[in-house]
Amino acid sequence: MKSLPRRIEKIIEPQAVVEGAGVRLKRSIGTQTLDYLDPFLLLDHFASIERRDYEAGFPLHPHRGMETVTYVLSGVVHHKDTLGNSGSIGSGDVQWMTAGRGIMHEEMPQVSPEGIAGFQLWVNLPANLKMTAPRYQNILAAEIPEIKRENGTRIRVITGEVDGTRGPVSGIAANPTYMDVSVPPHSKFTHAIANGNTAFAYLFQGEAKFADGDKEKVLIRSPQLVVWGEGDFVDIATDESPARFLLVSGKPLHEPVARYGPFVMNTREEIEEALRDLRQGTFV
Ligand code: CO
Repeated sequence: MKSLPRRIEKIIEPQAVVEGAGVRLKRSIGTQTLDYLDPFLLLDHFASIERRDYEAGFPLHPHRGMETVTYVLSGVVHHKDTLGNSGSIGSGDVQWMTAGRGIMHEEMPQVSPEGIAGFQLWVNLPANLKMTAPRYQNILAAEIPEIKRENGTRIRVITGEVDGTRGPVSGIAANPTYMDVSVPPHSKFTHAIANGNTAFAYLFQGEAKFADGDKEKVLIRSPQLVVWGEGDFVDIATDESPARFLLVSGKPLHEPVARYGPFVMNTREEIEEALRDLRQGTFV
């Protein structure tokens, strides 16, 4: 059987959102347009050199039943939690945080002339891991392998495997791929994605033509999110402009979702339990 490029299921324009104590973001997953892309709950893109857009940060808040993945492109985000963990996520670094049964933390972008740019992705946890012990994987930029293909395409592999190179983040339930791909002008990028896995690209620089099954290619301009449907591989081609995008895929959970802000459980009762734990001081 002939292998086909994945077809394009949706093209999403990010929405302007104010989150935390007043941080301006572009949100493309976790909105009314795209509430849930199993197993991905949320995708936020922050990028500003204006301190008023980000300095208020994300003061102390809880998470339960899910994972947050923070990838910083420029600037620094300080984090601190009530279990005594703290540190900073700098340019090119990734923090993959498995909240499990609960963490309370703050995430504060630091004011600097370069401002702040990066992403936060939320990944759901399966029912049997929602109350697991919290875990952090703090990965420094230098620990993330960068592949260079013959046509000049550069691929930073955060998790998953590309061209025989594995990313450093491991042991994630959704078995995800997360990579940052930079394609130079007049070049092409292809990558096979396991059938049945959810997959999307978030194009945040430049523009490129995305293959759409056996139909005509579609021009995507940054910032836009492309959600792929069935097919065997993805095929992205640049013309005069380069393109840079996140490519993320993962195994859907197919479980009921009960969601209330930073709590993501399977039932309403479990959400109420989380709120009760928070009120009674037994959350962490
Ligand atoms: Co958080």
